[in-house]
Amino acid sequence: MIDTSRILCIGAGYVGGPTMAVVAAKCPHIRVDVVDINEARIAAWNSAELPIYEPGLDEVVRAARGRNLFFSTDIAGGIRDADIIFVSVNTPTKTFGQGAGYAADLQHWEKTARQILAHATRDKIVVEKSTLPVRTAQAMERILDGNPAGVRFDVVSNPEFLAEGSAIADLERPDRVLIGGHDTPAGRAARRIIADIYATWVPRERIIESNLWSAELSKLTANAFLAQRISSINSISALCEVTGADVDEVAYAIGTDSRVGPRFLKASVGFGGSCFKKDILNLVYICRSHGLGEVADYWESVVAINEWQQSRFVRNMLASMFNTVAGKRIALFGFAFKADTGDTRESAAIGVARQLLAERAVVVITDPKALGSVREELPEEGDRIECEIDPYRAARGAHAIAVMTEWRIYRDLDYARIFASMEKPAFVFDGRNILDHKRLHEIGFNVYALGKAPLRHV
Ligand SMILES: NC(=O)c1ccc[n+]([C@@H]2O[C@H](COP(=O)([O-])OP(=O)(O)OC[C@H]3O[C@@H](n4cnc5c(N)ncnc54)[C@H](O)[C@@H]3O)[C@@H](O)[C@H]2O)c1
Repeated sequence: MIDTSRILCIGAGYVGGPTMAVVAAKCPHIRVDVVDINEARIAAWNSAELPIYEPGLDEVVRAARGRNLFFSTDIAGGIRDADIIFVSVNTPTKTFGQGAGYAADLQHWEKTARQILAHATRDKIVVEKSTLPVRTAQAMERILDGNPAGVRFDVVSNPEFLAEGSAIADLERPDRVLIGGHDTPAGRAARRIIADIYATWVPRERIIESNLWSAELSKLTANAFLAQRISSINSISALCEVTGADVDEVAYAIGTDSRVGPRFLKASVGFGGSCFKKDILNLVYICRSHGLGEVADYWESVVAINEWQQSRFVRNMLASMFNTVAGKRIALFGFAFKADTGDTRESAAIGVARQLLAERAVVVITDPKALGSVREELPEEGDRIECEIDPYRAARGAHAIAVMTEWRIYRDLDYARIFASMEKPAFVFDGRNILDHKRLHEIGFNVYALGKAPLRHV
């Protein structure tokens, strides 16, 4: 008999922390323990300065922590005491051996399975929260089935669809919750137990149940489709620039078609984040392993366009700034991969900074939440990078500003004041198409936006 009054989550990262904080807040009758091998991260979850930034997260954690939400490093104890175990460890792209650069690195995942096996003394439901290759549950079951104590494990897939920057809102009002399990009496029962937890606050019609492999594959597919939309509009942005079309007008026109829909059609310097690229490359790897070369090539092109868009952005900067940025100060507005997060994993700003530094520019980075990771992301770059929290100071003496992250604050700055403090001619490259380009041009800037004709004075 599964005890449904306790949940354990292994992995206290961007997914495990916020997800379990919301479960604890919505289900005061359930004790939620979140464990991690990273002591510093757990200490931060137990402090006033949480390890990640998400709007609304502080409040949710404060309401539940110490009541029915606990963070610790006691993994063995957690496994012993809880019958429902969510696993939310990282599954990055493999950097070594077979499948390097494409396949998911499942070493953390497998270690967790072995930890569960070592410490479980009663029957458990193991919930895959991490994003995993399709059919990972089968491997997990094979590991878990090796237990000598006769403990029964039911593996359920419950991929997480939250978006960083809006994680709390996404968790409180998800479009859907997907729960995959075996189509057997035990599999259906396990699925139902997990569905009942979510049903405390999610309407039943938004809780989708499916078979295990569909749930696992749906997560990879969802990220591939989302990223594909970004690459699609970004590819069209390049065509707009050479034909006189305006990418925002094209996006609006196609987005009003209800079959297409308006969201995720904003041209940009490219997608970042820990998931899109890794999950697509994983999908590509899986397709190739199954002999589906054409399918693999199709999805790989989404990543190729993303990388091309980033390089194209830097090439445009270079061409418009008289083919040299050597010794020029360039202010990057934003370092996080998107607004409202401090996460910089795979941020477009990293690639752009690297390419500018290779051209010997002096790069000044400003960001309200992400400056802490600049040295970690660009370790080799030393003294030609400056970090400056105040965007006005970052732009002072600069030849150009490049908007990398769509932080709201960058729309509302006093650009006349910024223009006055910059070298002339002054350039703005809007990598997110968030600024008022006409107004900037009137102030005196040379303005380059994606998918639009440049507004120049020189
Ligand atoms: N970040 C997102 O927006 C997002 C969204 C949906 C799904 N996902 C998926 O969720 C998973 C987790 O992503 P994340 O962004 O939270 O990663 P993360 O790196 O922020 O967190 C993972 C945590 O797991 C811990 N960990 C690793 N091995 C462990 C072990 N053996 N025992 C205990 N703890 C261990 C790490 O120390 C780390 O704190 C990934 O599979 C990712 O693809 C992420």
